[in-house]
Parts: sequence; C-alpha cells; structure tokens
Amino acid sequence: MIETETKQSVTSKNHQSQVKIFPDFPALSNEAAKLFVKLSTASIKKKKSFSVALAGGSTPRKLYQLLALPEYKEQIPWSGVHLFWGDERCVPPSHPDSNYRMVQEILLTKVQIPSENIHRMPGEIDPEKGARIYDQELREFFAGEGAPHFDLVILGLGKDGHTASLFPSNPSLKEEDRFVVPVDSPEAKHKRLTLTYPVINQAKTILFLVAGEEKAEILSQVFQKEKNSELIPAHGVKAVNGELYWFLDERAAALLKQL
Ligand code: 6PG
Repeated sequence: MIETETKQSVTSKNHQSQVKIFPDFPALSNEAAKLFVKLSTASIKKKKSFSVALAGGSTPRKLYQLLALPEYKEQIPWSGVHLFWGDERCVPPSHPDSNYRMVQEILLTKVQIPSENIHRMPGEIDPEKGARIYDQELREFFAGEGAPHFDLVILGLGKDGHTASLFPSNPSLKEEDRFVVPVDSPEAKHKRLTLTYPVINQAKTILFLVAGEEKAEILSQVFQKEKNSELIPAHGVKAVNGELYWFLDERAAALLKQL
C-alpha cells in the first residue's frame, strides 16, 4: 500500500522495509543527505560515533557531493563520523575505478574528517589478504559491541540485482562467518572486496539508492519476484536489527505496481 507522505515522495511501509519514491534524482539525493545528517547527529550525540559503509558506483555520487556542501556538511560532526566502504575494486586507491578515490575527490577533500576516521578497503594488495585485514579492522572497531554492526550501510543496485560486490551465483553469497571476502566474478571488470550479509544485515539502518530507468526492470524483480538471493543478491539484504529504506526515483520505480 503506497501512502502519500509528502508532495515530494510517496512511502510504502511493511514490516521489512520502507520504500520512498521521489519525483527525480536530485530529490532522492537530498533526502538521503538529510537522512545522513539525522542519523549521524543522533548517533554522535548518543555514543560519540557514527559508522557508515559507503556504496560505490555512480548513484551515490550526488549524495556525497551534497554532503560536501556547506548546507549539509556544517550540520555533521565529522570528528565522530567513521567512513568505511561496502566494497572496493582491487585496484590502487589512485585508480579511476577506485570507490575510495571517488569518495576522496567528491567528499574527503572538502570536509574536516580526521584521517584515522577514514577506513579504506585495501584494494591494492592481494585480495585474500586485503579481505582478512579489513575483516580484522571491523572486528577491532566494533569490539565490545557484539557482532560488528554499522549505524548506516548505503547500497546501490546493479542491473543484475547485485549489491555491494555480492554478485549472482557467487560463493560470497553463502558466507556466514567472514565480514569481508574477496570476490572474483565474471560480472565485474576487476576482482573486488565486499562486505558480506552477516555484517550488512546487522546494520541499524540500510539505505538502498536506486535511480534511472535502466533500473526499473531489476527493481520490479526485486519487489515482485519470489525472494532468491542467489539470483538477486539484493534479496539477501535484511535489516534484522533495524530499518531498511529504498530511496527510488520515479524512473526507476516505473514498473512497480501497488507495493
Ligand atoms: C560498485 C558498487 C555496486 C553499485 C552497483 C550500482 O562498486 O560498483 O558498490 O554495487 O552500487 O553496481 O552501480 P551504479 O550506482 O553505478 O548504477
């Protein structure tokens, strides 16, 4: 059931997730920036820190650009924000395809965040070694809090239903213990490192950002096909301890019937 919440967006709620459909990509990205401000300020007020796993790819770029603007960045207590990555291509951080480089250019160079708060995935080293190093970094960062759990995980959605670097029919989908694994997939140009479901699904808030008509078909499968995370890895994402939001623009949501 889609309820009209505000003239900017419509929201559908069920026990698993909230879907917000925005008229266009800028409206989607601005709402995501407002949610980032809300969650980060509340978390830092409560526990002096806010841990977020950033998505790669192109969709979140606009969000990161907005967070670098005075109207948003001046509301965020950056000294308490800890930036992680949901996945990374196995390339040096200076490589054009690096998710770290994308965030560095758009956001890190424009906000006052302590360097120790930037937890870059080591994509430049042997993938198995890089996965183990980052896995250990998560365990140390979240030590004493039970299972590692991010305050926010931002995710995109590939046209094949992948999210982070969890690709269809890939062994990484079956990982139940490790929080970070190397991924070698024919779907990807580079080997990858990715967070796995065990750590993604523990997040307090999971936010999917999906925009553009090229995502309409996969979104209709995500919402209207029987759940099968082997075929559609996004189906394996469940906010077991928190909230899951889908922020869509109207073009991406074009094939969604009444939710
Ligand atoms: C990556 C991302 C990946 C991305 C989807 C959607 O490293 O590429 O983590 O999962 O979110 O492929 O990418 P777009 O936002 O570019 O459509």
